[in-house]
Amino acid sequence: MKTETVTQAVRKEPLPFCRPTLDEREEQAVLEVLRSGWLTSGPQVKALEQEFAEYVGASEAIALTSCTAGQHLVLAALDLQPGDEVIVPSMTWPSTVNTIVLSGGRPVFADIRAETVDLDPESVAARVSPRTRAIIGVHFAGRAFDVPALEAIAGQAQVPLIHDAAHAAGTEWGGGRIGGGPGGPSVFSFHPIKNMTSGEGGMITTNDADLAARLRRLRFHGIERDAWSRYGSKGAAQYAVVEPGFKYNLPDVLAAIGRVQLSKLDGFIAARQRLAELYDEALADVEAVVRPPLAVAAGERHAWHLYTIQLRPERMPCDRDELMSRLQARGISTGLHFNAVHLHPYYRERYGCREGDLPNTEAVGERIVSLPLFPSLSEADVESVVTALKEVLRGDG
Ligand SMILES: Cc1ncc(COP(=O)(O)O)c(C=O)c1O
Repeated sequence: MKTETVTQAVRKEPLPFCRPTLDEREEQAVLEVLRSGWLTSGPQVKALEQEFAEYVGASEAIALTSCTAGQHLVLAALDLQPGDEVIVPSMTWPSTVNTIVLSGGRPVFADIRAETVDLDPESVAARVSPRTRAIIGVHFAGRAFDVPALEAIAGQAQVPLIHDAAHAAGTEWGGGRIGGGPGGPSVFSFHPIKNMTSGEGGMITTNDADLAARLRRLRFHGIERDAWSRYGSKGAAQYAVVEPGFKYNLPDVLAAIGRVQLSKLDGFIAARQRLAELYDEALADVEAVVRPPLAVAAGERHAWHLYTIQLRPERMPCDRDELMSRLQARGISTGLHFNAVHLHPYYRERYGCREGDLPNTEAVGERIVSLPLFPSLSEADVESVVTALKEVLRGDG
């Protein structure tokens, strides 16, 4: 009987795709809130909103239970009517598109540019119609999309450009931070795998005070405390519902974690940047791998939320999903960002989406893998990921 020898470097400690970086400062902050007796939205949320607005350079910040909640509010505030369209990439997390549908709109999918995995302005321009009510761009992996080009298209169509900034806390563009510029609102995620976390959470930033007032109201049941002073006279405990709203307010326990994380964000991004450079160097000679571009334009900072490679199928011994499971067998978890939204069953059935609709999105969607990336990842961890990847790509089991 023939026995085959295969080289398989299996890690002793499994390596997660992501791990939040927390220490006793977050623990202490939570403890203080627990002992204060005030757990829901209060002084910690107010402080986080102020500090985050200042960090990105916006005049208004609205803290929420998730980025998805923020997307829902921003779209609800558009008051979409049946048949109204929102142009959106398909290469995103489902919430970016689901919230359009939940707000009564029709998603119109635009294609991406393969190299940077962001919205292709030409594809967006070709989809603008008299029914277009907004354009949503995703700052994929923490790299800014083409803000001037998409702003120009949105400006011409007289619709807001909404920034899905789930990956983009700390991303810079045009010398400023995403979330602080003019134009439509930006929506950030503080989910545990993101560049900064509050456990779960999100934030909308905008420079539009009227929009901010409406979003605050929609965040909490549609209640406007001032309205009571206009319609009643019974004092501070009273409240008035001026439109039906949601219950998306962030609790203070979580805001306290977010405040500590925000103070560490620039350090986290510097560590991520260094790790991205290490991956870039280590993968330079791997023919089956297309690396994400490191270089950014002057005045930009890539926040490196994800290090997402693309694979060359013609140089692979197996398909992408099999590669991910072979890495898992070696103790290395990877991520899939993203499965194209337009090919999910609901979008196929409801809107007739099909393979071939978005060639770049579909090609990239089959080739992408996100490698482990988080600030406490060590150089040895990066080495073990690259060694395992090379083994799998050589066909060693
Ligand atoms: C591009 C994008 N948008 C939105 C979200 C939703 O964020 P959250 O989980 O905070 O609702 C995610 C989450 O991963 C995302 O990747």
